Amino acid sequence: MLARFGWVTRSALATALLALGGCGGTGNEKEEVASAEPSTASPSSGALDAAVAKVSDKDSADKPAHLVTPDRAVDPKKLVDVVEQEVKGGENASPSPESILWLPSDQSKIKDEPLTVKVPKGLSPLILNVNVPAANPLTKGKFELGKQLYFDPRVSLDGTISCATCHNPEKGWTDQLSVSVGIDGHTGGRSAPTVVNTAYGKTMFWDGRSPSLEGQAQGPIQNPIEMGKQSYEDIVLRLRAIPGYKDQFEKVFGTDVTLDGMAKAIATFERVAALSGNSKYDKYNSDGDLTALSESEKRGMVLFGLRLRGDDEFKTNVALKKAECTSCHTGSNFTNEQFHNIGVGWNAEKNDFADYGRFVISPIGSKNNSELGAFKTPTVREIEKSGPYMHDGSLKTLEEVVEHYNKGGNPNPSLDKDIKKLNLTDSEKADVVAFMKALTGEQVKVELPTLPPGTDGKIPDPHAALTPPPVKAAANVFHPAVQR
Ligand code: HEC
Ligand code: HEC
Repeated sequence: MLARFGWVTRSALATALLALGGCGGTGNEKEEVASAEPSTASPSSGALDAAVAKVSDKDSADKPAHLVTPDRAVDPKKLVDVVEQEVKGGENASPSPESILWLPSDQSKIKDEPLTVKVPKGLSPLILNVNVPAANPLTKGKFELGKQLYFDPRVSLDGTISCATCHNPEKGWTDQLSVSVGIDGHTGGRSAPTVVNTAYGKTMFWDGRSPSLEGQAQGPIQNPIEMGKQSYEDIVLRLRAIPGYKDQFEKVFGTDVTLDGMAKAIATFERVAALSGNSKYDKYNSDGDLTALSESEKRGMVLFGLRLRGDDEFKTNVALKKAECTSCHTGSNFTNEQFHNIGVGWNAEKNDFADYGRFVISPIGSKNNSELGAFKTPTVREIEKSGPYMHDGSLKTLEEVVEHYNKGGNPNPSLDKDIKKLNLTDSEKADVVAFMKALTGEQVKVELPTLPPGTDGKIPDPHAALTPPPVKAAANVFHPAVQR
């Protein structure tokens, strides 16, 4: 395994991670920390040097980041000593990268209980090894810790931005902006997707570049325009100074604060809290409550591509699958988890896309033109709340979305074959919108947490970070695809 690793300096590690950019754009699926040992080959401060594994694209594809842990025995005592020195500012004060990112947990210290989750009606149960990684089972303490980290603005460089700034549960787990606004009012090139039902997601991001919620959660905290230009060390050491976090990490992971633990806790919170089901559609479909949907919603459902229940005698008088949204928005979370070009972001004058999407992520040598301008099919559950829509937030309302599909998308050389003119009448368009609104459901009520006091005794108010800062600079660097 070590043979795959190259030794690089700390700044090279930071550059490598930042280059992938974006909320969670750590390229975590491509990097892996190899060793706690200081590098001798490096000109800069030895103990801070990191080893980065450039796992080949092929490897990363079949090896989710959260399942990859360093396979070398590390003496936990040694690591803790080094870190204590760093926190105290003593000689040889630099922590080893591994002690910051990952520490072997002392099982005897873990005092946490399993968390059983009853998912809302219409969703499939959360299953270990299917929707929950074996390395990160659901526990109560992890959920509470993850919730605090999710809402804690101290995770950002200047204490103003939390995950909830851009993924606010009250706003359908988004910021309801076309493109997100991060630290110092920087804007990016993509719209914040909803976190709703990402527990069922096969990949994360509009282009699917991260394989898991765990992998995703490590990115935004050190993205210069989301949460600030800071290194993992900065964040982890800042949180280690907060006794409340130190104690919880000990209890939940049997370690000090680490990036690995942060990612696991935040992912657990998202997996459990951001669930939406038991909508009018689920009451109709699962409970057989034939009155749960209005006539317009039923017509919309049939146009969307779903049949009426066998015991429903209502005659919709519309053609089944006339809009055939289910060719992509399918299954209990209304997404096939695939990537499609529906023509969003195509500039006909320039004959080019503003953002190449999935194409950029595909390994060199297997790039396929059909991936140009292709993005992940999003869920349409809870959709009423999460506009503006599409990866670039270019469509403001659900009516505009239906209009987009009705005209056959934006014709371009790699338009998906399933995107074609629909010839919906005005009332049929309204029906499709009505059906999508019937997918607004029951959400887990998220009470904002009380955050642990900092070293100054102050307790930050998580509400303050719910309002994004005013826009100042358009940086457009969420992702290399946007940076071209
Ligand atoms: C400044 C706004 C901003 C902040 C802060 C932010 N995100 Fe994001 N998030 C985004 C954007 C924009 C994307 C989409 C980026 C892309 O696809 O390239 C995204 C994508 C995601 C996704 C992928 C969802 C999907 O369906 O693919 C998840 C999950 C997520 N963020 C969780 C988090 C967590 C957890 C945090 C805090 C550690 C966080 N975000 C902080 C803006 C933000
Ligand atoms: C060929 C696959 C495909 C078909 C068919 C399809 N969609 Fe989509 N849908 C997508 C993809 C991919 C996106 C994201 C595109 C992007 O951002 O560039 C999307 C985005 C959306 C969004 C915005 C979601 C968000 O969070 O921003 C809505 C709403 C939506 N589709 C509804 C529909 C409806 C209604 C139909 C039927 C008329 C339909 N879709 C048919 C693949 C499809």
